[in-house]
Amino acid sequence: MPARHPRVFATADIGAAALDSLRAAGYDVEVYPHVEAPPYELILARVQSGIAGLITTLRDRIDEAIFAAGAAAGLKVVAQDAVGFDNIDRGAANRHRIPFTNTPGVLTDATAEFAFFMLGALARKLWPAEKLVRENRWGAWHPQYPMLGDEVTGKTVAVVGLGRIGRAFARKCLGFAMQIRAVESAAAADAFATAGESALEALQRLEPEAPRGSFRVVPLREALAEADFVSLHVPLVRPTAGGEGGTYHLINDETLGWMKPSAYLVNTSRGPVVDEAALARALLAGRLAGAALDVFETEPLPADSPLRDARLEDRLRLYPHFASAGAITRLSTDPNRGMAGRCVQALRDVIERGASPFVVNREVFSA
Ligand code: GLV
Repeated sequence: MPARHPRVFATADIGAAALDSLRAAGYDVEVYPHVEAPPYELILARVQSGIAGLITTLRDRIDEAIFAAGAAAGLKVVAQDAVGFDNIDRGAANRHRIPFTNTPGVLTDATAEFAFFMLGALARKLWPAEKLVRENRWGAWHPQYPMLGDEVTGKTVAVVGLGRIGRAFARKCLGFAMQIRAVESAAAADAFATAGESALEALQRLEPEAPRGSFRVVPLREALAEADFVSLHVPLVRPTAGGEGGTYHLINDETLGWMKPSAYLVNTSRGPVVDEAALARALLAGRLAGAALDVFETEPLPADSPLRDARLEDRLRLYPHFASAGAITRLSTDPNRGMAGRCVQALRDVIERGASPFVVNREVFSA
């Protein structure tokens, strides 16, 4: 229990039960009460007022000015209620010696399964098919009408990024006997190859006649060229000043050109990993069969986005950044199950013990 009543400002209601647990532990918690994100100036003012902890979400820009104000006013931790943290300026956090935390692990399967469901919805044309029934345009059962989709089982899938979520996604694909072409550093890939192969072997013993999945690590170009489906699981990393590296616009005119015209793209990572204008062009020109996006370059998706082109509707699924939006995943107070629980635990760890396994910028302690 902290000595006084440390003040915490949460930029969103991350879950009443989790926030109440913080209050029960002696914290004085203020929550921004609206669904829209708070204005930047309001966050800055709260930090300047001397809060000990700031709970953020992926829509809050936490930059140099906020960390500078925090350092001057006694901010101990920024606790992000998300696994991604590209909205937080890590360099600024380190300069001002303020740790920030995230919520890895608890949303892995929720996000991976959602990516897989997006893939299935796209390939089997669930949206146009349901629309047809709802609009009473389903004339007759017929072997070839109203439309045919593409089976998923046994197909080749490029898994771009083999972090926790990419690995969980790949495991689900193995259940569908998919041929996995993974794109990742060699070390991470070797570790997963072993686990993947043993799961495969067990399945094959039980069902020797069933279609078999496989797992190979290949360069991006090869993965994209072979894939029937491409699923993105990389963090957003902006390129360096020289324009090198990073994952910003990893999927662009050139890399879309490497994909087969019959292939589908799924993105549950971060919107700016895909050049949306290039994607819309590729879909319109028939250079790609379809795409399903849960994340966008600008969120919420602007009214004038090229992705809203009515000609794309049947081949482009659009979702409101909610791959992790399972009730337990988002709200559980159990730090091993819910983002809210893990976020609160991380905040308390840092304020009460000065450390947490969920600190992202661990270098802050040695700097
Ligand atoms: C969701 O996108 C997250 O990063 O948690």
